[in-house]
Amino acid sequence: MEVRISEIRKEYTKGKLTQCVINDNPFRQFEEWLNEAIDSKEDEPTAMIVATVSVEGHPSTRTVLLKGLDNDKFIFFTNYESRKGRQLAKNPYISLSFVWHKLERQVHIEGRAEKCSGKVSDAYFANRPYKSKIGARISPQSRVINSRMEIMRAFVKEVFKLAGHEIKRPDNWGGFAVTPTRFEFWQGRENRLHDRIQYIPQKDGSWKQERLAP
Ligand SMILES: Cc1cc2nc3c(=O)[nH]c(=O)nc-3n(C[C@H](O)[C@H](O)[C@H](O)COP(=O)(O)O)c2cc1C
Repeated sequence: MEVRISEIRKEYTKGKLTQCVINDNPFRQFEEWLNEAIDSKEDEPTAMIVATVSVEGHPSTRTVLLKGLDNDKFIFFTNYESRKGRQLAKNPYISLSFVWHKLERQVHIEGRAEKCSGKVSDAYFANRPYKSKIGARISPQSRVINSRMEIMRAFVKEVFKLAGHEIKRPDNWGGFAVTPTRFEFWQGRENRLHDRIQYIPQKDGSWKQERLAP
């Protein structure tokens, strides 16, 4: 059956977002929505699209898993020498987007990323499954490789090399902590008249809420 993609559409009717019900604090509002996404059995509720920008001003995106919200910073882990890692080293401005289709919701966050401390990255790395630790050590993430065989060989070699030893976090792998400077919460509504509320930080530490046109 041929599906015309221009005809794929649905009405969004599952909820609404008003300034009466939204939390004054965007972090608490985010936690509330994330918990609802987890409860609704959303696939990969912690998956977020991470956008970074090259020094030439060219944006790029990829999916990454949120691993914590510590002291109001969004934490994720990756290879510091990956494409995103190299871009963030030169330009720390970042954008994170969560989409929860079952709830017809999305959240956009803009901010600055900084590397987590070695202690934070070590603590997370220590809890990763053994094979993920090996993978992080041997994969030159985002670099061109000759074949899958090349990476499988490196994996097996590392397993033998480190047999019986503690698997340490490599220096080129760790966390980024994102400090938000803008939030937008989006709830799909009927007739494409969606609810959008943005939070902008104020000098006194509070967050100003504003409704945006859909
Ligand atoms: C659901 C999902 C979760 C992912 N989680 C991570 C992650 O937590 N960290 C990571 O480095 N890459 C993760 N990836 C892989 C990235 O999307 C990406 O391929 C990789 O980080 C290299 O990106 P870059 O070359 O733009 O730096 C995930 C991919 C998917 C689809």
